[in-house]
Amino acid sequence: MQLALSFSTLLASIIVLLSVADNGAQAAPLAKRGKSITLPLKRIHQARGDVHPQILLQQHINRSQRRIARMKGVAPPSKRELEENLTKRMFIPAGGRPGKQQKRFNRLGMPAAAQAAVAEEDDDEEPELASLTKNKGLKAAAKKKGKGKGNANANAGNGNATGAGTGAAASATGLTLANTPTTANSLGLDIEANDVGYIATVQIGSANTDFKILMDSGSADFWVGSETCVSEAGGDCGNHQFLGPNTSSSFADTNKQFEVTYGTGHVSGDIVTDDVSIAGLALKGHTFGVANTESVDFSDNSVPFDGLMGLAQSTLSNQGVPTPVEALASAGLIDDAITSFKISRLSDNKNDGEITFGALDDTKFDSSTLVTFDNVATSGATAGFWEGAMDAVTADGQDLGLTGRSAILDTGTTLIVAPPADAAAVHAAIPGAQSDGNGGFVIPCDTTTSVALSFGGASFAINPKDLIFAAADNTGTNCVSGISSGQIVDDTTWLVGDVFLKNAYFSTDVTKNTISLAQLV
Ligand SMILES: *[C@@H]1O[C@H](CO)[C@@H](O)[C@H](O)[C@H]1NC(C)=O
Ligand SMILES: *[C@@H]1O[C@H](CO)[C@@H](O)[C@H](O)[C@H]1NC(C)=O
Ligand SMILES: *[C@@H]1O[C@H](CO)[C@@H](O)[C@H](O)[C@H]1NC(C)=O
Ligand SMILES: *[C@@H]1O[C@H](CO)[C@@H](O)[C@H](O)[C@H]1NC(C)=O
Repeated sequence: MQLALSFSTLLASIIVLLSVADNGAQAAPLAKRGKSITLPLKRIHQARGDVHPQILLQQHINRSQRRIARMKGVAPPSKRELEENLTKRMFIPAGGRPGKQQKRFNRLGMPAAAQAAVAEEDDDEEPELASLTKNKGLKAAAKKKGKGKGNANANAGNGNATGAGTGAAASATGLTLANTPTTANSLGLDIEANDVGYIATVQIGSANTDFKILMDSGSADFWVGSETCVSEAGGDCGNHQFLGPNTSSSFADTNKQFEVTYGTGHVSGDIVTDDVSIAGLALKGHTFGVANTESVDFSDNSVPFDGLMGLAQSTLSNQGVPTPVEALASAGLIDDAITSFKISRLSDNKNDGEITFGALDDTKFDSSTLVTFDNVATSGATAGFWEGAMDAVTADGQDLGLTGRSAILDTGTTLIVAPPADAAAVHAAIPGAQSDGNGGFVIPCDTTTSVALSFGGASFAINPKDLIFAAADNTGTNCVSGISSGQIVDDTTWLVGDVFLKNAYFSTDVTKNTISLAQLV
């Protein structure tokens, strides 16, 4: 089932990025795609290109901030502010060379209301933040199509951002295949690039065709590209697997539409039904989406997946349908609507990532350390995400005094984004750490400081190698931190992605509305 279909041709340059961001993307003429699909052989995380580490960092901060803004249904930072900060970063003295490429980062399904802010944000004219904080009345803005992919080149790996030789995310591209899982109802989680995303293979349609799917605990829509998919950049949706009536006799179109905008990227298309098989669990006539239009973030040949599976709760679903895990539970194929993640770290070379449906795989964690706590995202804009009360943040065991915090746990985001005062407090406890004045922090590449987050009364330490996001320059001593600051929402909510989640077994239960974490074995 782990068919190697990986695509890692990396294209866009930062120049292209900036010009796309400036001009806005225009809806391209719809070129019909041919029927035949070729699948190039896989290349494994080939490093390429050169990205100035500060640009890379700003890109990731950009996306994190947009993502967190969308989660809360509030306005993202203005384009001008982001651009100003980017300009500042480019003048930070550092040995790296200005870069050409970046790695696609995170994405988020969001409530329809929040899409208005995004559409507006992507416009050329700078939005007034104040007017965007109220989403009502902005529906018109959301209807503007063919606009913006601020980070249109969101594919591509970077260059030498990992000069420090760490397990830093974003230093490579492509897909590293997971081992075949040995536990029932489980799929291997392939590692995208250096721990940038986690991808499983599911079968869809009458021919049980393999599709590579990005598994995202921070959104709630499931979609793959349609046979007639066109890229917003023009042309077809690239070297991917597609679904439609020509390839699947069980395919049926409901003729209803859906649309999802993520932290990076955008898709729209039809709500359809077809047979979906997940780890051998066969959902007959499941309802999900096919994308007729994809932004280049998804359509580019370099994107190593064919679709995305949102595994937050269906209350967040733009399609308004049960998520696959909810459907599996309703169909009685699994006992509970539980999704469990063991995401692996590329630098460990274990390739033991795994997603398990209906249960926890107790071979992956130390059962004596398992804690289960309530999902606190029960109302308001975050309802349906997986958000836990965060009891404490420590650095080398020292309690930083941050109380009343909560954290959205999101496999689809790479970094940790903390409110600015909290990010400053954490870095004040890391010897040698410095703010770069733009929301990022530089830490020693050889830092041994153990930052830990507590949930459910248990503390989970972040491996220091995960704190090192990228080299800050070519000295090999200065690295950019995997914890950045973002003050979009409020001063207590953190967005906690793979930098943390690589260090714990993570499980969610829709029915009980609980989250579990445990120490990995
Ligand atoms: C599907 O099949 C029909 C009939 O053979 C053909 O006209 C059409 O172009 C095909 N569509 C795609 C997307 O391949
Ligand atoms: C951050 O976002 C702004 C606004 O969309 C964009 O102009 C800028 O290029 C982005 N920065 C990077 C490094 O991608
Ligand atoms: C990338 O890093 C390696 C090892 O540090 C170095 O040998 C190489 O010259 C660097 N490449 C570029 C383009 O800077
Ligand atoms: C831009 O930089 C300023 C400090 O110079 C900071 O306060 C602000 O939060 C940054 N904005 C973004 C979106 O990174």
